[in-house]
Amino acid sequence: MENLRLRDDFYAKIDHKGEIVTVGGIDNMKLILEDIEKNYGEKQVLKKASFTFEKGKIYGLLGRNGAGKTTLFNCISGEDIYDSGKVKIEENENINKELDFSKVGYVFSEPVLPEFLTGYEFLKFYIDINKDKIQDLLSIDEYFDIIKIHEEDRYRLIKGYSQGMKNKIQMICFLITRPPVILLDEPLTSFDVVVALEIKNLIKKMKSNHIIIFSTHILQLAVDLCDEIVVLNNGILEELDHELLKNPEFEEKIMEVLKEDYHD
Ligand SMILES: Nc1ncnc2c1ncn2[C@@H]1O[C@H](COP(=O)(O)OP(=O)(O)OP(=O)(O)O)[C@@H](O)[C@H]1O
Ligand SMILES: [Mg+2]
Repeated sequence: MENLRLRDDFYAKIDHKGEIVTVGGIDNMKLILEDIEKNYGEKQVLKKASFTFEKGKIYGLLGRNGAGKTTLFNCISGEDIYDSGKVKIEENENINKELDFSKVGYVFSEPVLPEFLTGYEFLKFYIDINKDKIQDLLSIDEYFDIIKIHEEDRYRLIKGYSQGMKNKIQMICFLITRPPVILLDEPLTSFDVVVALEIKNLIKKMKSNHIIIFSTHILQLAVDLCDEIVVLNNGILEELDHELLKNPEFEEKIMEVLKEDYHD
């Protein structure tokens, strides 16, 4: 059986008679990091960091302040250039290519948005510049409803938005374009408890079609939301046994790992 790629994220399976058997999206996707190195001057932040992330899972990225979590996200998203190594994406096992940065959605811990536009104007603009990539577009108000931005706030300038509201606008952006890889750098810290729960549920709902990696310092959040825990320590990535997530002593264990291996 042969896989015929129809579009970037769509394929058809063709049997030996040349008939189309199934048409569907990518059912198997991996983000592969190979020996990523990143230095800032003398400081080696990432020292051959390698890891394979899979679609359908939420990964929690833990590490001490300054461990390099934001740097790693910047390298994956193309915000920053890494010194050596490779970031690849594998789709349906037969395609293995350099990651196209447009496949990555990145929610910064401190969002950068055009403050002179209203939330509504910005989303209209965002939809316009991405219209080739968007499937199943909803109305702007429907997105605002999902993410619970009140009607009166939709037409106010972003300049006056709180940080949590700006994070929400960024969340809407990837609800619109649905990039296969979603990076969230400490995303929920600015949300109030009600919104944080809503966003948590939203992330859980989205996970089956995406690779979601988020960094956090809130261990409880990692326990609630993640399928796997990845620790960034001394420039390398290590997966923790996910059985640890169910362990009542999770916090103590994580503390041990982070304290033990930390060299400044
Ligand atoms: N643009 C830059 N120029 C120089 N050094 C940088 C730059 N960006 C990051 N660094 C350094 O790289 C290291 C990793 O920083 P990074 O922001 O990636 O850490 P982090 O794990 O995200 O930390 P935090 O938990 O505090 O957000 C730090 O020592 C930081 O000072
Ligand atoms: Mg950071």
